[in-house]
Amino acid sequence: MFNFMKKWTNSEQLNETITIEQIKQHEIPKHIAIIMDGNGRWAKKRSLPRMAGHHEGMKVVRKITKLANELEVKALTLYAFSTENWKRPKTEVDYLMKLPEQFLSTFLPELIEENVRVQIVGDSSKLPNHTLQAVQKAMKETEQNTGLILNFALNYGSRAEIIHAVQQIAQEYKEDAISLDQINEDYFSDKLMTKGLEDPDLLIRTSGEIRLSNFLLWQLAYTEFWFTDVLWPDFNEQHFLTAIHDYQQRGRRFGGI
Ligand code: IPE
Ligand code: IPE
Ligand code: MG
Repeated sequence: MFNFMKKWTNSEQLNETITIEQIKQHEIPKHIAIIMDGNGRWAKKRSLPRMAGHHEGMKVVRKITKLANELEVKALTLYAFSTENWKRPKTEVDYLMKLPEQFLSTFLPELIEENVRVQIVGDSSKLPNHTLQAVQKAMKETEQNTGLILNFALNYGSRAEIIHAVQQIAQEYKEDAISLDQINEDYFSDKLMTKGLEDPDLLIRTSGEIRLSNFLLWQLAYTEFWFTDVLWPDFNEQHFLTAIHDYQQRGRRFGGI
């Protein structure tokens, strides 16, 4: 391998096998965010309905959650449904809204056992009752857990989140509860739905799309990005370890030298 190629060739293409032990020797990203994309294309390739791809994708959520917890990642934020995903056919939206229940009815005992804490970000007021109830039950039953925070972005849109934060701050200012110079980056961050979570260190997007699709626009300001053509239902532990391995090779400067 020529040296100049190494710069932009990631280990996925180098076909190295990365082990958990190897990864644990270096800094593990504290917060990992994932845009789980490509379920529909995975199904299409197999002439299956799109729902089959979503179902398969759910199993990957389980695998990656387990591994993240084992690696002692503090938070894993998974983009499960965007504010724009309501544009999809009703049958698909209905199916996607049943997935949290399906996932939790199977895996909640396991999450409890593994000390995982379930949380959500997004506008939950628009979720069907059955979806919200399943998620709230999981949040309640895991609220004392101290391991990985498994944070589902459900009906999440970053622009809506930012507007909501601005409205809250404007209201406080109007009521003379705060002064202008109190409004700083920390104050603003605390008005976002990710309050209490550190900004992601690593963002992964599957399926070959190179965009953010309205995900965590404020929070990703200094995040390392890792894109792969692998479709979400095909994403596995080795891909996850490779993403972290690549992250560990990067020099984060935050504007410094
Ligand atoms: C990601 O897969 C899951 C959601 C957006 C809910 P897609 O359903 O977007 O799959 P593609 O992008 O059509 O392949
Ligand atoms: C982003 O994927 C949202 C989720 C993964 C939940 P989309 O498939 O909705 O994104 P676009 O439409 O390709 O940008
Ligand atoms: Mg998609």
